Order: sequence, then C-alpha cells, then structure tokens
Amino acid sequence: MALKAGVIGLRMGRSHVAGYVQNPNTEVTVVCDIDEAQARRVADEYGVPEVVADYRELLEQELDLVSVATPDQLHAEHCLAALEAGAHVLCEKPMAQTVEECEQMVAAADASGKQFMIGQVCRFAPGFALTKKLIDDGMIGKLFLVESEYAHDYTHVKGVGGWRVDPVRLREPFVGGACHAVDLLRWIAGNVAECHAFANRFVLTDWPVNDCTVANYRFESGVVGQVMCSIGGKRPYTMRSCFYGDSGTIISDNTSPTIQVYSTKYPTTLQFSTMPVNLASHNVASEIAQLVDAILNDKPVPTDVREGARTVATCRAAVESAATGQPVQVKNDF
Ligand SMILES: NC(=O)c1ccc[n+]([C@@H]2O[C@H](COP(=O)([O-])OP(=O)(O)OC[C@H]3O[C@@H](n4cnc5c(N)ncnc54)[C@H](O)[C@@H]3O)[C@@H](O)[C@H]2O)c1
Repeated sequence: MALKAGVIGLRMGRSHVAGYVQNPNTEVTVVCDIDEAQARRVADEYGVPEVVADYRELLEQELDLVSVATPDQLHAEHCLAALEAGAHVLCEKPMAQTVEECEQMVAAADASGKQFMIGQVCRFAPGFALTKKLIDDGMIGKLFLVESEYAHDYTHVKGVGGWRVDPVRLREPFVGGACHAVDLLRWIAGNVAECHAFANRFVLTDWPVNDCTVANYRFESGVVGQVMCSIGGKRPYTMRSCFYGDSGTIISDNTSPTIQVYSTKYPTTLQFSTMPVNLASHNVASEIAQLVDAILNDKPVPTDVREGARTVATCRAAVESAATGQPVQVKNDF
C-alpha cells in the first residue's frame, strides 16, 4: 500500500507534491497552505483530495510522511509537530534557524524513531553527484581546497508575507541560502572545525541582514575551504564550485550541462575534459525517491537530522564570526 504523504507550504512544496505523485510508493492525501487559493491550485493540479489552511488539521490525519516547505523560521515548529504526530519528515533546507532549534529537533527525531531527512537538494544535482563520485574514486587525488558559492539575487524574492526581510525573526541568507554551498562542501570534505568570516551590506541596504558574506573554513581533515554568499549580486543564479586535489581539479555547478575535470591521472601530464551531466539543479523527485526507499527498506537517509544540524551550525559559525570579527569553532557534536 502506498505511503500517505501531506505537504505543508505550497510554493517550493509544490515540487514535493510533484515528487510524491511521481513516486509509485507514495500518494498525497492532503496539502496545506495558509493561502488557501494556492493550496487549492496545487491540489487541483495534482489531484490531491483534501486541502487545509492550518497545519494542525493536516497533522490530525493518518499520515506516514509529512513534508515541511514553509518559511525557514517555521521549520522547527512544523517539524517538531509532525514528529509528535508520528510521521516521517522531509524538511526543506535549512533544517532550522538556530543551533538551539537543531538540538531540539535532534532530540525529537531520536525519540520518535521516525526518518527525518533534510532536503539538501544539491546532493541530488547530477553535476555535484558526479563530482562527489569522481573525488571518492580518486580522480583528483588528495583534496586540499574546496570552494562553493550561493549567488542568488533576492532583490525581488522577499517570500510570501516578506519572511526573508522579517526584521524580528531574522532570516540570515548565509543560513537559509548558503546552506546549499556549505552542505555541498561538508558532503565532499567532511565536518568543518573552524570558521572566520566577513560580511557587508552594500547592495540590499534596506534589508535587515548582511547581503554578502565570505566564510573561510578549516575542515577537521585539514582541508581548507571558502563559501561566498551574495543575495544582491547582479548575475544569474548558479553555484560554481571548485575542488582541488593533489593530482587534479574539478569545477562544477548546478546549472551547467558539463563538469570540468583536470587530472594528471590521464596518460599525459595535465589533461582537461568536460563530462556531460543532466540538468536538474533542484532534483526534488530524486530526493523523495531516496527518502521513500529509506523508509520502506529501513535504510539511513543521506541527510539525517544530525547532518542537517551540522550544516546549520557551520552556517551559524559564519554569521557569528562576521558579527564578532573573531574565528569561531563549529559545533559538530549533535
Ligand atoms: N531546495 C531548494 O532549492 C529551495 C528553493 C526555494 C525554497 N526553498 C525552501 O523552501 C521553503 C519555502 O520557500 P518558498 O520559496 O516556497 O517560500 P514562499 O514564500 O514562496 O512560499 C511559502 C509558502 O508557505 C506558505 N505558508 C507560510 N506560512 C505558513 C503556515 N504557517 N502554514 C502553511 N503554509 C504557510 C505561504 O503561504 C507560501 O505559499 C523555505 O524554507 C526555503 O528556504 C528551498
């Protein structure tokens, strides 16, 4: 019998509905959005039988699985309630806004015995997945430097109701946006030990948060790395990422049909090739397929509650370091 799924928040959540509808082992029985007209549109488009405006009503139903795709500031509240209701949870990135919320979510996920996956969707972008495989297979030798970026002009992307510019419940772009880049580097190079970051606000001067941050990271392995986050820079959205090893380099992003590989493992000295990849920068259907497989076959999910928490903590370290001017040790012991 198909797993019954419910989805809360129906803009990005619309991709979750599509992913569940596409999956042979799931069906969406209810969707929720405080904007009922939006919920009705999505329900009609995907043949979902029930629409509610209050997430508590959704959680009263018999559901195996709940997706939380509401504004970042609401993830902790909605995920904790979904776990309490006895559902497996898929939470959009970032897992939460603060380390304290992450600690609560780790405890709740452990107590529930349910699967809890964070939608760090870059792990499912074909270019990044191939990059990770080539690095794991030794194509560029021993890693020493990793770089990624989140450059996404938010000038007109304030979120429904303006949650990205909320002056009280600050939505830090380095947590909400750069978590993509941070998670990618953590996936490939492991946990980060220490961060020193710098930030400014020269473009979106009427926003309540810094619009540009550069974070330097020292990984536990000794690899060094950098993440740049700009939400005001005028250029197309992409996540150009470079991975340097002692025998080669890979340059990839989530919006190009190829990745670039330089490797001395080719017959002559330093050779270059481009490798084709599919274009699927927001591959939510693959993300959902892996979660469903984990639930049905009792396997670990790729980005569990602790991975989600470490990515948030690594992002928060950059926000704190930029604010204080001091290096910050990253919390990894969740
Ligand atoms: N994985 C990705 O690449 C990706 C891309 C975009 C957004 N996101 C994440 O998805 C989440 C949603 O982002 P978005 O771009 O869809 O935002 P949005 O502002 O466009 O849409 C949010 C939706 O949630 C609804 N909502 C707000 N409060 C609600 C509540 N209490 N109960 C039910 N519905 C509520 C709003 O009415 C709106 O329809 C955020 O956490 C964001 O960071 C992830």
